[in-house]
Amino acid sequence: MKELTRRNLIDMYQEFFKNKSHSVIPSASLIPENDGTVLFTTAGMHPLVPYLLGQKHPLGTRLCDVQKCIRTSDIESVGDSSHLTFFEMLGNWSLGDYFKKEMIPWSYEFLTSDEYLAIPLERIAVSVFEGNENAPRDEESASLWKECGVPEDKIYYLPKENNWWELGTGSGPCGPDSEMFFDTGKESCSNECSPACDCGKFLEIWNDVFMEYEAKDGKYMPLEHKNVDTGMGVERTLVVYNGLKSVYDIEIFMLLRKKLEELTNKKYEDNLKEFRVIMDHMRTSTFILGDDASLTPSNTGAGYILRRLIRRMIRFIKNLEVNESILEDLATVIIDYYKDDYKELERNKEQIISSLLLEEQKFNKTLSSGYKMFNKVISKLENDTISGEHAFKLFDTFGFPLEFTIEMANEKNLNVDIEGFKQKFKEHQELSRTASAGEFKGGLSDTGKETTRYHTLAHITLAVLKEMFGKSVYQKGCNITPERLRMDFPLDHKMTDEEKETLTNRVNEIIKMNLPVTKEEMSLEEALKTGAEGTFSEKYGERVYVYTIGNISKEICGGPHVENTSELGTFKIVKEESSSAGVRRLKIIME
Ligand code: ALA
Repeated sequence: MKELTRRNLIDMYQEFFKNKSHSVIPSASLIPENDGTVLFTTAGMHPLVPYLLGQKHPLGTRLCDVQKCIRTSDIESVGDSSHLTFFEMLGNWSLGDYFKKEMIPWSYEFLTSDEYLAIPLERIAVSVFEGNENAPRDEESASLWKECGVPEDKIYYLPKENNWWELGTGSGPCGPDSEMFFDTGKESCSNECSPACDCGKFLEIWNDVFMEYEAKDGKYMPLEHKNVDTGMGVERTLVVYNGLKSVYDIEIFMLLRKKLEELTNKKYEDNLKEFRVIMDHMRTSTFILGDDASLTPSNTGAGYILRRLIRRMIRFIKNLEVNESILEDLATVIIDYYKDDYKELERNKEQIISSLLLEEQKFNKTLSSGYKMFNKVISKLENDTISGEHAFKLFDTFGFPLEFTIEMANEKNLNVDIEGFKQKFKEHQELSRTASAGEFKGGLSDTGKETTRYHTLAHITLAVLKEMFGKSVYQKGCNITPERLRMDFPLDHKMTDEEKETLTNRVNEIIKMNLPVTKEEMSLEEALKTGAEGTFSEKYGERVYVYTIGNISKEICGGPHVENTSELGTFKIVKEESSSAGVRRLKIIME
């Protein structure tokens, strides 16, 4: 097997599926726009949930892409040879179109054919679902693999724990899956050795999910359409295919490693953990800021993850005894490497770098006094646990994320009273929007009634902001939950009370006009010609939906929306604040 690069892999995958009549769709943002249940896009299927549940996709029923993903449940594990917080996932989808009998032979062809990955058959193993009370044993997939030529003893039947895919929230489209593994040829570790064990004999490359159900309240209901959802991690496939020892040996990390060695005068081999943490966290932070340059590191939600990543990275840079700022140099390597695929990186380069530097400055101000306090606290400990109160003080006064204090404590074989910290935190009324509240699980795009109403309200709000402040106003960020709408837009001053009143009155006037909300499908070009507004043009595919609200608003948008503005409640601004330099943030509810 010859060396495989990221470029070859992505191009080969997309070519393969284009030849099977798939449309290539662009990667969605890492920050889900209409989904308050998760902070980041965790898998390629995530932005497609409404379509997997039956909504018509403007580009048809066969799609493929490479999607940026973030999984942050084990940030503190980053530093070993395999954990990453950001990765790219190749995927293809059938939206009620083909199913197992097409997908399995295609997977086999892509993996083994000389034109594609050309993995020798003896290096392939697969798993299928063994069945349970919710869904039958997947004999169909097993026999399709056999027909392709996979020997019976390389087809493993595994339980739900291994061979079932659903989102972390336990809701949404789901079903049994069939996974494909690279068999390294190592001795089996025992008679029970299978792809389910982590002895290192079998390495996963691809996952075909056969989505036949929708999970709701612990029950599985059959979906009207059967879908296919597949996922192949780019980084992992490169590691497996090229026989690398660590995910940090792939091309982007080789480039970063070289830059970091130059900047620090230290060797990667002597400082594995530091280098890996810095490289991973820098890549993830750069991509997050690339998608939402106005996102400010903070103590809540996605901003908190960003803060943890940047601050943990800075701590490890300090461990390398570097005192000057090297963030810009590192971010530049990442932006240059990925900019052709992700134009937003280049477009937002300045803001990405200034956000990184600003957070670094802020943290530098408190870092050394925080370290002093930490050392003082541990020198006076009567047992092996740092109290919640101290951890909270480190958090609140010195900007040490809780996980950061825990990690430093663990390095000294100490613990932190997490419950005590949470208690203190609760007293400061922020708990609901933090890590501790379990927000890191994968989640479902919310297309519920309330969210839909807020979605339409967002279009009206934007239209009125344009009426008030000029056509150049655009939606810089929009986040919707069933309870509220948050919108960021550029404006050079704090909104006056009068302006807020004008906005409120005008939006409510429009709502009361009982205007119809209509949806049309057209090409992106036609849509732009009709004057429809888009937020970030490259996010759209060639065919799009345009939603029109009377003669007030026309926007390119995936929906869903209400049918008439009469379905909306009374618009009310609950907060107007600065989001970043020159950007205002409105929090809006409907009463
Ligand atoms: N959604 C599936 C995964 O992420 C394909 O593995």
